[in-house]
Amino acid sequence: MGKDVIIACDFDSAEKTFAFLDRFTGKKPFVKIGMELYYAEGPSIVREIKKRGHKIFLDLKLHDIPNTVKKSMAVLSRLDVDMTNLHASGTCRMMEAAIEGLTRPDGTRPILIAVTQLTSTDQESMEKDLWIEKPIADVVMHYASNAKAAGLDGVVCSPLEAGKVHDRCGKDFITVTPGVRFADGDIGDQKRVMTPAEAKKIGSDYIVVGRPITAAEDPVAAYERCVAEFVD
Ligand code: C5P
Repeated sequence: MGKDVIIACDFDSAEKTFAFLDRFTGKKPFVKIGMELYYAEGPSIVREIKKRGHKIFLDLKLHDIPNTVKKSMAVLSRLDVDMTNLHASGTCRMMEAAIEGLTRPDGTRPILIAVTQLTSTDQESMEKDLWIEKPIADVVMHYASNAKAAGLDGVVCSPLEAGKVHDRCGKDFITVTPGVRFADGDIGDQKRVMTPAEAKKIGSDYIVVGRPITAAEDPVAAYERCVAEFVD
């Protein structure tokens, strides 16, 4: 499977998104559309970016009863995205239903990955708010195993967890890792970060990079630096 850099297009309008993508003359980076942009612009933003020739990771993190997730995934599969996701905490039954919904009549479907525990959740909030009293690293691995058992393709995880996920779930189980920063860059609000080169070494399959590219003075150069460190 191809390693790639996915740019998190965390913009609140189509106008800002296209102004950003227009800078990439000739190149068509893999882009992530998250809740902010999707809720601002609706499915048309997905169709328009697709029409421009980009691969799309639609990051909407579904979590609902199995029937609702199945029907929603069927709608998303018609948008022809390349990757989408859900919360593993929605249970194995919900993940199986998601696959059923996402699979097109010809048997193909977008890559489906699971969020295990959000990186904003720590041991303390997991115990206090969610009443989950196990080590968070074990919870992440358990959810990754559930995702694999349900037939999903991989998980979103910290680059620090990618190696362990591959050990547990196999090298073909995809790890998509945010929290990437250049060695000489600002880490912002991310807590546990890695450089693209380190993420490559540890075995991440895709890195998701937002502000180090979107807020760079020269986003194209920043993207190329990520590709040079992670892919080439
Ligand atoms: O700007 P930055 O590189 O921090 O952006 C990272 C992207 O990855 C954002 O879109 C963020 O929502 C997403 N993400 C994350 N941590 C997770 C899951 C998703 O940073 N655990």
